[in-house]
Amino acid sequence: MVRIRTAVFPVAGRGTRFLPATKASPKEMLPIVDKPLIQYAAEEALSAGAEKLVFITGSGKRAIEDHFDTDQELERELEAQGKQDLLDAVRGIVPSYASCIYIRQPAPLGLGHAVLCSRAAVGNEPFFVHLADDLIDAAEPCLGQMAKALGGRPASVLGVETIERDQTEKYGIVATTPVEGRLSRVERIVEKPKPEDAPSTLAVVGRYLLTPAIYNKLETTGRGAGGEIQLTDGIAALIADEPVYAYAFQGRRYDCGSKLGYLEATVELALMHPGVGERFAGYLDRLAVRRRPG
Ligand code: G1P
Repeated sequence: MVRIRTAVFPVAGRGTRFLPATKASPKEMLPIVDKPLIQYAAEEALSAGAEKLVFITGSGKRAIEDHFDTDQELERELEAQGKQDLLDAVRGIVPSYASCIYIRQPAPLGLGHAVLCSRAAVGNEPFFVHLADDLIDAAEPCLGQMAKALGGRPASVLGVETIERDQTEKYGIVATTPVEGRLSRVERIVEKPKPEDAPSTLAVVGRYLLTPAIYNKLETTGRGAGGEIQLTDGIAALIADEPVYAYAFQGRRYDCGSKLGYLEATVELALMHPGVGERFAGYLDRLAVRRRPG
């Protein structure tokens, strides 16, 4: 299995769908129960073996840097108060062997451009791209599943899931041929096609394992859907030179870029939470009884 050392997190987007909550704080800092989305993202990449976390940021995203930084004053206070659990929770966010790198995306030119901004930090090796909006709850974290499925193949792999046809305009959509198990080979990829033009209903979710060959492709990728430089278009160019695979991951994805998906994640992860899960389940039962007609 190839060891992937670097994970890239494009976090420059404004998060307009959550305004006014995201007016002065990044959408990636929205919490699911007690952890911000970006922490779930970092934990997934770390568990898949990444040790260099590269955040592509923009204006108004300082809270992300603060979150992953040490807060000595807070730690001293928690220590003095004997709050060991909370101290462990704030101390252990990024282990000492891992490093965080922050790169500013100078203008909101799209996901492909954001990934291109990571080139110098990543170097000439394969890397993960993780979109924190897509929260995936899985027994084995999705990025780890993808790296394993690829085995020793020197290729790229995209995390995919089947969606409803009327949703194709929200995603990169792939046409594939089967390889083995959950792995298939991408023959074609299109960004946000209309339902009638979509080559399938297999959508790319925010998980990518990419070879560094993507960078040369992104250098020459022009503006695509929405007038932005799309990662999907870079991948479409890559397919001409080397294999790109799709992997149908195991797990439950929540689209935390939408209010409904965010609420579903909140409710379901709260039900699984060791501290509040049981009491929250009781509350939901009582609520269901109250809301039942008659
Ligand atoms: C981005 C990608 C798209 C992918 C999606 C997954 O779109 O451009 O190909 O399917 O993430 O969430 P966005 O959600 O940023 O519009």
